[in-house]
Amino acid sequence: MTDKLIYSGKAKQMWTTDDEDVLRVIYMDQATALNGKKKDKIVGKGRLNNKISSLIFEYLKKNGIKTHFVQKISETEELVKKVKIVPLEMVTRNVAAGHFSTRFGVKEGLIFESPVEEMYFKSDELDDPFINESQTHALKIATHEELNTMWEISRKVNRLLTDLFESIGLQLVDFKLEFGKTKEQEIILADEFSPDNCRLWDLKSKQHMDKDVYRRDLGSLTSVYKEVLERLQKKLGGP
Ligand code: C5P
Repeated sequence: MTDKLIYSGKAKQMWTTDDEDVLRVIYMDQATALNGKKKDKIVGKGRLNNKISSLIFEYLKKNGIKTHFVQKISETEELVKKVKIVPLEMVTRNVAAGHFSTRFGVKEGLIFESPVEEMYFKSDELDDPFINESQTHALKIATHEELNTMWEISRKVNRLLTDLFESIGLQLVDFKLEFGKTKEQEIILADEFSPDNCRLWDLKSKQHMDKDVYRRDLGSLTSVYKEVLERLQKKLGGP
């Protein structure tokens, strides 16, 4: 059967496979910021995102988190379980940065006593607006139980990855997760986990080791992603 393109996003494409429950993801050499208003081709980025995200998803899987990840099949491709994406971006913040700092006028670097949790409605046309729990119910996006499940998984991911990154000299400042529903109606972690959707600061130098390098024009994006990948590979093994 010929594979069909079913989704083409800002930095990834999804194709069908012979197995109707499995999709093939292609990570592209594309970086975007400001909801697609800033866009550039960055050679080697797709490969780095794929490698980092597969290492992290394998680590999460090993630690009991259910994810859509099946396996990495090439430098830039992976297989994932087909899910229906819940149109929410679930953001967890350990330290003030980015929009939290600009929105509330606090300095970047303020460490929160307990993590801040925020939700955004996934919509390019509406610029991903902030959304609260009652609004998600009114719009029939998720039930109370489903939100609970997603936040429980987010908290586990935060604990696991805060420790993992700390052990390789990086501070997990914040991150965004997306979830999907399987055909059995189970909520599992989807999308990717890479420096595209989290902030990582070097513990010693405080250098930005994530997409802020691109958003803020701070230097070479691929060199910092490569550094993150090398530290993860040293810790977790893998190709
Ligand atoms: O921009 P903001 O400070 O709200 O981002 C919080 C975290 O969520 C950051 O790690 C950022 O990379 C991630 N994020 C994302 N996709 C978005 C918005 C934010 O991955 N559309």
